[in-house]
Amino acid sequence: MKTKTIPFLLFVFVLSLSSCLKDDVTVTTHHYSDAEYAVISQHLNLPKDVVSYQVELPQHMKNLGMVAPNIQNAKATLGRVLFFDKKLSKNNTVSCESCHKQNIAFSDDRALSEGFAGEETKRNSLALGSVANFESSYGSNNSFGNQALFFWDERAHTISQQSAMTIEDEIEMGMPMSELVQKLSNEEYYQILFRKAYGDEIITSPRITEALQEFLNSLLSVNSRFDEGMDRKQNAFSDFPNFNSMENMGKQLFQANCSSCHGSNMSQNNETVAHNGLDAVTTDPGVGAITNREFDEGKFKIPFLRNIALTGPYMHDGRFETLYDVVEHYSSGIQMHPNLDFRLRNPSNGGQPLRMNFTDQEKEALVAFLETLTDPEFVSAEKFGNPFN
Ligand code: HEC
Ligand code: HEC
Repeated sequence: MKTKTIPFLLFVFVLSLSSCLKDDVTVTTHHYSDAEYAVISQHLNLPKDVVSYQVELPQHMKNLGMVAPNIQNAKATLGRVLFFDKKLSKNNTVSCESCHKQNIAFSDDRALSEGFAGEETKRNSLALGSVANFESSYGSNNSFGNQALFFWDERAHTISQQSAMTIEDEIEMGMPMSELVQKLSNEEYYQILFRKAYGDEIITSPRITEALQEFLNSLLSVNSRFDEGMDRKQNAFSDFPNFNSMENMGKQLFQANCSSCHGSNMSQNNETVAHNGLDAVTTDPGVGAITNREFDEGKFKIPFLRNIALTGPYMHDGRFETLYDVVEHYSSGIQMHPNLDFRLRNPSNGGQPLRMNFTDQEKEALVAFLETLTDPEFVSAEKFGNPFN
């Protein structure tokens, strides 16, 4: 007994010492001086203390070797302000949020979104709340090849690159980066936010897109009922105790028919792009237009399905209104195309499109399962919300 007392006391001493130190730090440092905060508060509703954007992965993701991105809070805060700022568009009418709304997991509820001049985007907006879109997906040693790529045709290699493309896109925001730098430099609150993030007030195009990337990398959605089940069972294939029988049945159907592409754990896809038989005759070549290879024609990014119940309409052109429509497509609507993925063909019928022919109950079960991927905390978190007054 006696020998254990000394280390225990020492432990208590160190513990109290470290909590003293911690108290000291939190009382004495505000992120903004009073003068800075007064300027910021004219435009923005930001807390005076720094907000943590560092994300914590649930155990089931850590077990996959996934590593959370190392988020710098001041950059993410700047990125959040940029994300919600309509000044990023040519005529101050749209922000990133116009097409990526937080309450629907940063997607849009229209098949095609409306750009700054009222023109429609060519494709359906992609949800950003799907974790694993970003750096966190593939562990710490990213190398091109297994890294997440962006847009339906995967034409952007980083979010920073994607952001510049979007801001300058003639339909989406129509804003040349050089003009944007000028525009933002005139705002005193941006001078403060850039100083906090970068140590000086110089606003550059790489800094703008890097800050956006930092914010987007923090959009981690990991509090769905599916995550709870995964953490309790650590196995995507066994029944989850927090699911009802319908949801567990849907999960089994998903693992048997869908996980070969979309992945079994909602954190890592099995494939990056595929042709899922939407059209017999190609209307949008997708990846094929980027690679100029015939066998890529009609292939699109396989989207992550986190928060999928919130992000309709579905597919690259938003052709399906509901998850029932999507399930119906896989059940009986897959079209023949030379590039149709082998996983959606029937090998015993000469490679014709697979007919999964789900019963009504099975369709309902699949939809019930997809609804367990919703993360209510994520879509209401204040630190991801609109900071403008
Ligand atoms: C006018 C609507 C609109 C605006 C404004 C907009 N986006 Fe998008 N976003 C889209 C559409 C549509 C897509 C899919 C386009 C495609 O794949 O061809 C998309 C795709 C993305 C993707 C790719 C996601 C993935 O999983 O591949 C990211 C990231 C993104 N947008 C971030 C942003 C950021 C950051 C901004 C602000 C700088 C922004 N968007 C502004 C409509 C918009
Ligand atoms: C061969 C690979 C593959 C298989 C198997 C597969 N999918 Fe997909 N899925 C895709 C691709 C590719 C897309 C995007 C296609 C597009 O928009 O052109 C997609 C899109 C979706 C979407 C819409 C996502 C969005 O954000 O709009 C849902 C929902 C979906 N799949 C569910 C399922 C379900 C449920 C199953 C099983 C019954 C399944 N998928 C099987 C490849 C696959």
